Amino acid sequence: MKAIRLFEYGGQLVFDDAPTPTIAHDAVLVKIKSTAVNHLDRVEASGTARQIFPIDLPWIPGHEFSGVVEQIGGDVAGFAPGDAVFGNSGLGAYAEYLAVKPAAIAGLPSKLSFEEAASVPVASQTAWQGIFTHGHLEKGQTVLIHGGAGAVGAYAVQLASHAGATVIVTASGDDEAYLTSIGASRVIDYRKAQFEKVLREKVDVVFDLIGGDTQRRSFLVLKEGGYLVAASQPVSQEEAARHHVSGAMMNLAPSADGLGRIARLLEDGTIRSDVATVYALQDAAQAWNDIAGNLSPSAPGAARRRSHGKIVLRVA
Ligand SMILES: NC(=O)c1ccc[n+]([C@@H]2O[C@H](COP(=O)([O-])OP(=O)(O)OC[C@H]3O[C@@H](n4cnc5c(N)ncnc54)[C@H](OP(=O)(O)O)[C@@H]3O)[C@@H](O)[C@H]2O)c1
Repeated sequence: MKAIRLFEYGGQLVFDDAPTPTIAHDAVLVKIKSTAVNHLDRVEASGTARQIFPIDLPWIPGHEFSGVVEQIGGDVAGFAPGDAVFGNSGLGAYAEYLAVKPAAIAGLPSKLSFEEAASVPVASQTAWQGIFTHGHLEKGQTVLIHGGAGAVGAYAVQLASHAGATVIVTASGDDEAYLTSIGASRVIDYRKAQFEKVLREKVDVVFDLIGGDTQRRSFLVLKEGGYLVAASQPVSQEEAARHHVSGAMMNLAPSADGLGRIARLLEDGTIRSDVATVYALQDAAQAWNDIAGNLSPSAPGAARRRSHGKIVLRVA
């Protein structure tokens, strides 16, 4: 099969022929239609965090996908060849075929294209688990989401708003109309204002998708007993204790149940998915260049750099 592979840490992405996976009795072989690009892909490939995110070389990146079931193992129930599915994988989705456990996949929402569906699993479940599982967000509470216009943030805004929370977001000012259209009550332009100086009231939950100084300043705006949930770097337990809040870095724990719940919300139009750009699989290196700039602050006055949503790779 054709796949994108990495042969050494920090090396080039190579589009070439790789062995097609075989499936065990409890697994499903999916013919991939699309996959999506995550910041973690680049971190894993760089080797800078190999103690936390080790990979075996040669390695095929890719944590999420959409496709069609090609073959099922003898013990698999609930899926059949020809089913359209989407789901999560620990690796390997930048390829024509992927072997996965049925617990990692769910039926494709009929409203979504394969490209849209491939963009959903990681960002949507990270958002759900960040604000509800770790942040314990409830109706009537207020959440501050840093990086709310990004892929994870946009789901967090929609899910929190749907749950009846007041949603405040830090983002580029250019994203204000987009963010209010998906449920944000207030957008603070991180390029023009310090959120801790302009917020009048303290919040119940901070969902931090940015880290660094943004995370450090977040302790100042949390109510006592509140939750600081970070997705990109660990939270100082000393600072959390000093401010009488709980702080934790989350790690996505994908599940078929969680993905099925997201699929129903997409199906009934409660939430939507956005795709920023679609590249062919062989252009993965270009896609990685695009995503690399997203987390560095853009200059004051600079135009918004990109469309909303995820970067998708079309496989077939
Ligand atoms: N722990 C986990 O399980 C997990 C899972 C998924 C993702 N993540 C992490 O979550 C983070 C976000 O991922 P993503 O896919 O949503 O990223 P993304 O789509 O690239 O979005 C990043 C967003 O952050 C904005 N931004 C940059 N600097 C900012 C600042 N100082 N304040 C507020 N907004 C700022 C960018 O806006 P401009 O371009 O306008 O500056 C952009 O809208 C990444 O670090 C990723 O690795 C963690």
